[in-house]
Amino acid sequence: MAESKAFPRRRGFYVKMKLSHHKNGRAQEKSFFIRYYKWILWVSLSIYFFTSYYISHSHSHKSHGTAAPMTKTHVSRALVESSNGELKEMRVFVYDLPPKYNVEWLSNERCSNHLFASEVAIHRALLNSDYRTFDPLEADFFFVPVYVSCNFSTINGFPAIGHARSLIASAIALISSHYPFWNRTNGSDHVFVASHDFASCFHTMEDVAIADGIPLFLKNSIILQTFGVNYKHPCQDVEHIVIPPYISPDSVHDTLKKSPVTGRRDIFAFFRGKMEVNPKNVSGRFYSKKVRTMIWRKFITDRRFYLQRHRFAGYQSEIVRSIFCLCPLGWAPWSPRLVESIALGCVPVIIADGIRLPFPSAVNWPEISITVAEKDIGKLGTILEHVAASNLTTIQKNLWDPRNRRALLFHNQVQEGDATWQVLRALSEKLDRSYRRSRISEQ
Ligand SMILES: *[C@@H]1O[C@H](CO)[C@@H](O)[C@H](O)[C@H]1NC(C)=O
Ligand SMILES: *[C@@H]1O[C@H](CO)[C@@H](O)[C@H](O)[C@H]1NC(C)=O
Ligand SMILES: *[C@@H]1O[C@H](CO)[C@@H](O)[C@H](O)[C@H]1NC(C)=O
Ligand SMILES: *[C@@H]1O[C@H](CO)[C@@H](O)[C@H](O)[C@H]1NC(C)=O
Ligand SMILES: *[C@@H]1O[C@H](CO)[C@@H](O)[C@H](O)[C@H]1NC(C)=O
Repeated sequence: MAESKAFPRRRGFYVKMKLSHHKNGRAQEKSFFIRYYKWILWVSLSIYFFTSYYISHSHSHKSHGTAAPMTKTHVSRALVESSNGELKEMRVFVYDLPPKYNVEWLSNERCSNHLFASEVAIHRALLNSDYRTFDPLEADFFFVPVYVSCNFSTINGFPAIGHARSLIASAIALISSHYPFWNRTNGSDHVFVASHDFASCFHTMEDVAIADGIPLFLKNSIILQTFGVNYKHPCQDVEHIVIPPYISPDSVHDTLKKSPVTGRRDIFAFFRGKMEVNPKNVSGRFYSKKVRTMIWRKFITDRRFYLQRHRFAGYQSEIVRSIFCLCPLGWAPWSPRLVESIALGCVPVIIADGIRLPFPSAVNWPEISITVAEKDIGKLGTILEHVAASNLTTIQKNLWDPRNRRALLFHNQVQEGDATWQVLRALSEKLDRSYRRSRISEQ
């Protein structure tokens, strides 16, 4: 994968150096700058500059002190550094939309805290971030901040996302008539969040979602979505990045203040949530494909399992007391429990066939979680006992590494390695979609 991207990147990097060498001092840029100059000077044999450069930098460049021609090692080092450089240099323009598209929804406090709130969190983090540019001509990507999951139904309290399509369509009509940036790429360097089920199909029932499909106006854009499966699915048939569901970092912090990640864990296996005793057939489908019902029936009398069907605001204090936390599918495979388990140091037991997990390049999922196939649910007790007796300590050690836990949480201010940073890093691998970049490499 890295290799197939090598060529355009390298081309971009040389041209970019020409354009940006007057910008002041980011360290990464400086080292490219130095090497670029080395190369030019080697060719032109300009002794004066060479000498002064060499004297001032020789001690910091011992490993390749003399200006050697581009050897294989130089090339690959340049590539590695340029991939970090791509992120450092990347800029995102955030459209300033009328409040009815976003902040007006925040009058309901839940809007910025519920599990779909990554649409709010990413927006906030970008507004505060060094990756933001106020100059759209300098932008590689365009973020369109529309909050679609904040219209809570008064009947059941769940977000009503029926209006999502029209709200986004109207935002696109607005930006495409006021700015030239949408039309020039037909939206391909524009970024949206679709944090609800089933992503940009905008419906919680899979059959309806598939029938509705992804609206045409989003087909060319980049979607940040919680939904992800490792097989072909009409609701992820668009350029996208799988993101974690939103969990408030403050709530995690408060829980860990009372009981640390490495504290005592007296619950062997934990699950709290909807477990239907007699699941209903909803247009041909059963909630959680009946997996949760199976768990309930099989393990409710098993003393190793702590299973609860009712809501409890203090459930994080239960997670932090547990060794294993069950993360079975709901209507869709992903679950906020995955993030909470990891953030609170409980080994997630993922029971959701075909799930595609967020940020696989940052989070080493196989080392920090257990995956159990839906068909093996009956053997759950034996499987977990086996892990507890063999490699549990290793898994916990990996899991408690702060880097894994950081990658799944969104903060108001982007922190290196946190969830918004991971989104930006994933975007930096899609710079071939950027209009500005394509123009630079054509020059
Ligand atoms: C909220 O959702 C309901 C049901 O989908 C819809 O009728 C209503 O127009 C939405 N409200 C707004 C302000 O979009
Ligand atoms: C972009 O295209 C739409 C539809 O073709 C058009 O109505 C709009 O005026 C265009 N926007 C700009 C800024 O030219
Ligand atoms: C923009 O993309 C949509 C969806 O793929 C397509 O239907 C439309 O023809 C495209 N418009 C232009 C001007 O390329
Ligand atoms: C579920 O309901 C659908 C109709 O909505 C029906 O065709 C199907 O046979 C039912 N499945 C089961 C397992 O009852
Ligand atoms: C732990 O052991 C289980 C089998 O019991 C295996 O599936 C899993 O990959 C192991 N995990 C690690 C991190 O060693």
